[in-house]
Amino acid sequence: MHITELRDERLDDARAFLRRQGRLPADFAQAPCRYWAAFDSDQIVGTIGLEWQGATGLLRLAFVRPSHRSRGLGQALYQRLVSDALCMGVTELYLFGSGAGGYWQRLGFAGCPVAEAAGKLANTPQVRDYTVRGTLNHEQAFRRSLLARRTEAAPA
Ligand SMILES: CC(C)(COP(=O)(O)OP(=O)(O)OC[C@H]1O[C@@H](n2cnc3c(N)ncnc32)[C@H](O)[C@@H]1OP(=O)(O)O)[C@@H](O)C(=O)NCCC(=O)NCCS
Repeated sequence: MHITELRDERLDDARAFLRRQGRLPADFAQAPCRYWAAFDSDQIVGTIGLEWQGATGLLRLAFVRPSHRSRGLGQALYQRLVSDALCMGVTELYLFGSGAGGYWQRLGFAGCPVAEAAGKLANTPQVRDYTVRGTLNHEQAFRRSLLARRTEAAPA
């Protein structure tokens, strides 16, 4: 199993994977975005995506195929995203997720007002899409500083 950033035609593989899983949003892969996937042999078994506005990132499309869950793949995808996000100068991460809050809280996220997340990320594809569709009110938002993580990781 390995994790790779998706570019070019590999994004089409992720599009097909997410469509098969019933998870493909209309605004998939609209800039600015980056996506990573977990591969089992040559098959995509998990995805995660990042959109951003300045130093604020929006994590989206965290998904692991049911047959491959609870093996640490979700966390490995998240850690890869964080590592690359920090290299880009992203210092805080938000996500929207009504069903998986407990999962993200275990990874250090805390609930925050949806308006805070939507305000800081108003120009990202996901927030623009939610705004057009009027679905922001149905969401829950979560936030995590990445600066705290860097401090924690610094040598004593
Ligand atoms: C959330 C998800 C990506 C986690 O992937 P994963 O590879 O199974 O995650 P990990 O192996 O890193 O962690 C598994 C642990 O998270 C827990 N977990 C999974 N989903 C959870 C949830 N919604 N709430 C709380 N805990 C959750 C599992 O019970 C498991 O716990 P355990 O280690 O004590 O057994 C995967 O369950 C998934 O694709 N879910 C459907 C899509 C989804 O909800 N995505 C999040 C959108 S914001």
